[in-house]
Amino acid sequence: MPLSPETLLAESQLRRSYRKFLPEPVDRAVLETCLLTASTAPSGANKQPWHFCVVTDPEMKQRIREGSEAVEREFYAEHITDEWRADLAKLTLAVEKPFLTEAPCLIVIFKEWWSQKEDGTRDKNYYVTESACLATGLLINALRNAGYASLTYTPAPPTFLRELLGRPEGETPIMVLCVGKPDPSYELPKLTRKELGEFTSFFE
Ligand SMILES: Cc1cc2nc3c(=O)[nH]c(=O)nc-3n(C[C@H](O)[C@H](O)[C@H](O)COP(=O)(O)O)c2cc1C
Repeated sequence: MPLSPETLLAESQLRRSYRKFLPEPVDRAVLETCLLTASTAPSGANKQPWHFCVVTDPEMKQRIREGSEAVEREFYAEHITDEWRADLAKLTLAVEKPFLTEAPCLIVIFKEWWSQKEDGTRDKNYYVTESACLATGLLINALRNAGYASLTYTPAPPTFLRELLGRPEGETPIMVLCVGKPDPSYELPKLTRKELGEFTSFFE
């Protein structure tokens, strides 16, 4: 029995980005089901150009945190614009990223530009960013539906993650999804969502 559109909307409206998680581990079977749901996303020429690295190892989480804080420090010092800084200030974000070690599970998402064929030539993919982000959206919603909160975290640049996780040259990391049970003590930033008429035009 499919969910009614109204029920799906009501549940989706409850999704928020959490930056504090409870230590309880993410259930492996549930996680695998959510990843399979993500893999149902449409993709350019059905190339499915995504790879998910699931990290629960505390040492690897620590290394991801250290790498992220290093690029954040440089980003805040040298690249951020005043406008961007003002937007981030509303979310009270800082260089320190404790959620990267506190979240029981990090899913590092890669887009795959090409893979290596057996004869050594490249098998090229299409619309890799669009496809990998569609899969990520499905993953976030599947996790939310399973009772897990997530945070879409984007170190800039994220390139250090490829080496850290030993991924091939044809892949680029796009984001780290921090996943876990939401910590109820986390004070959610007050945000509003646009009204339908602000983001939709009908041509009838
Ligand atoms: C592509 C993308 C990148 C994001 N990067 C970060 C990030 O680096 N750090 C962070 O704390 N939140 C990040 N967020 C989360 C947004 O701040 C958050 O989704 C937004 O403020 C709306 O809040 P909500 O998710 O609770 O509805 C990112 C979200 C998206 C979609």
